[in-house]
Amino acid sequence: MFTVIRYAEIDSTNSEAWRLLERHQASANTVIIAKRQTKGRGQRGHIWQSDLGGLFMSVILQPNLAASQAHQITLWTAWGIAKALNETGANVKLKWLNDLLIDRRKLGGILTETKIEANKILYAVVGIGINWTNEVPDGAIALGELPTTLSSMDELIEVVLMGIEMGQTRCDREGITGILAEYLEMLSDRYVRKTIDGRELQGQIIDIRPTGELVVRWEGNLKDAIYQPQNFSVG
Ligand code: BTN
Repeated sequence: MFTVIRYAEIDSTNSEAWRLLERHQASANTVIIAKRQTKGRGQRGHIWQSDLGGLFMSVILQPNLAASQAHQITLWTAWGIAKALNETGANVKLKWLNDLLIDRRKLGGILTETKIEANKILYAVVGIGINWTNEVPDGAIALGELPTTLSSMDELIEVVLMGIEMGQTRCDREGITGILAEYLEMLSDRYVRKTIDGRELQGQIIDIRPTGELVVRWEGNLKDAIYQPQNFSVG
């Protein structure tokens, strides 16, 4: 089902996926994997530290979705990967919208980019970074040092791809609502603390809407806060 292209080193597997698509050298279900990245990209323009031992991969998808539904790809990918990894004995939780956590520490992240044509998603490149045996910064965790049934990076890749496929299939069949309740249950932390206009607020995540929006209910009878998912479009 997936065609895998491997590199020892590349700037960014997401960037390479877009270049290959541009040159018609890749299509839906092509997977690009690199042992290391020199310009790994994270959310909101951050650099993604990409040293040997980490998993850096991008999956090209062609989902039948409108431009405004791009967040669904990230939701099903995170949900599917977490479910699949938990089958190996890990205890992966989620942080809305793109993060995979274990013990509240960052295990990995997802960077979904889309190319839109006539208001529809023509292609999506789903970039996944997972700490495997690489050294991790404070606040992060590597899966390879934890007790799971995984014994190699290749096994990890297989499980991650299985998870993505499972998420996509479930959403094709049931729509995004098919996974939202479980996604909510898998959140690492539903407690929210925020200072708004100098006032310290505490609240609970009560919902994730099909639009991808996060709904927080504050203590003290305040109006619910709605946070928008952000996605990134190319071209
Ligand atoms: C995040 O900020 O949490 C998302 C990180 C996504 C990193 C992955 S690594 C493979 C792919 N190529 C990139 O340049 N970024 C993504």
